[in-house]
Amino acid sequence: MKPIRKAVFPVAGLGTRFLPATKAIPKEMLPVVDRPLIQYAVDEAREAGIEQMIFVTGRGKSAIEDHFDIAFELEKTMSERGKDLSVLEPTRLGPGNCAYVRQQEPLGLGHAIWCARDIVGEEPFAIFLPDEFMHGTPGCMKQMVDAYTQVGGNLISVLEIPHEQVSSYGVITPGAQDGALTEVRGLVEKPKVEDAPSNLIVSGRYILQPEVMRVLQRQEKGAGGEIQLTDAMAEMIGSQAFHAVTFDGARYDCGSKAGYIQANLAVALERPDIADEVRAFAIDLLK
Ligand code: G1P
Repeated sequence: MKPIRKAVFPVAGLGTRFLPATKAIPKEMLPVVDRPLIQYAVDEAREAGIEQMIFVTGRGKSAIEDHFDIAFELEKTMSERGKDLSVLEPTRLGPGNCAYVRQQEPLGLGHAIWCARDIVGEEPFAIFLPDEFMHGTPGCMKQMVDAYTQVGGNLISVLEIPHEQVSSYGVITPGAQDGALTEVRGLVEKPKVEDAPSNLIVSGRYILQPEVMRVLQRQEKGAGGEIQLTDAMAEMIGSQAFHAVTFDGARYDCGSKAGYIQANLAVALERPDIADEVRAFAIDLLK
C-alpha cells in the first residue's frame, strides 16, 4: 500500500460570504485566534505524515504563498531584537514541501483538484478543504490515515447533520458500519432534502486514489453546473474500496460566519494564555 505523501488544498475560492473582510485577503488567511485557517490544515496534514502541500490558488491569493515562505525582513529584525522566532516555524514550507498551481476559472471543486494532477502523479493523495475546521487530537487526517492503513482505497470524512441542512453538502449512502468506519455505497452532491440518502455529509477531508483524476479529466458538469469531486468519487464506488470515517473531534464550518465565531471561541477557551479572560468575559456578556 502506497503511503499518503501529498495533499491538495483547493484555495482559489472567492470567499464572498466573508466580504468585505476577504476583499483583499484570502478567506483561508482568516485567523482562528492567532493562526490562519490554512495553517491549521497544513499542520493537520503534517501530523498525518504528509510531506508535500499542493495549493490550488487563483488571482489575489498570493498572501498564502507569502505566509508559507521565509519572511526575511521580519525574521532578521526579530532576531536582531532577540525575539523568539519559534512561532514562525510551522509557517515555513521549503521548496520540496510545497507547490502552487493556479485554477484559472471557477469551474468547481472537481476541476480545482484536477488542476493538481501533474504534481500528484500516480499515487494516492489527501485533500483538505481549509474552511472545514477539524479540531481534535489526533487530527482528522491522522485518524483517516490510520484507517487507510487498515482498509486502503478511498476514504472521506463524514459527519451527521440535521436532515434539513443536507442540500449544502455531498451526502453518502451508508453501508455496513464498523466502529468509526462506514462503507460508502453511494454519493450525491447537494441533493434536495427529500432525495437525500442519509444525513451523513462529506466534511472536507479526503484520501483518494489517483484514478479519480482520470474521471475528472472528462470535465463532466454536475450539481450547480460545476465539475464536482463528489460525482467523480461516486464513479469509483464498486471498482475500488470506499469508506467513510467519522471524525472523533469537533468540526466547525468556517465557511459560515457563525461557525467561524464558534471556532474562535472554542480555540480561545483552550489557550492557557487567554482562556480565563475569555471565559469570564463570555459569561459576563451572556448575563
Ligand atoms: C464542498 C463539496 C461537498 C462537501 C463540502 C464540505 O462543497 O462539494 O461535497 O460536503 O464542500 O464543506 P462546497 O462547500 O464547496 O459547496
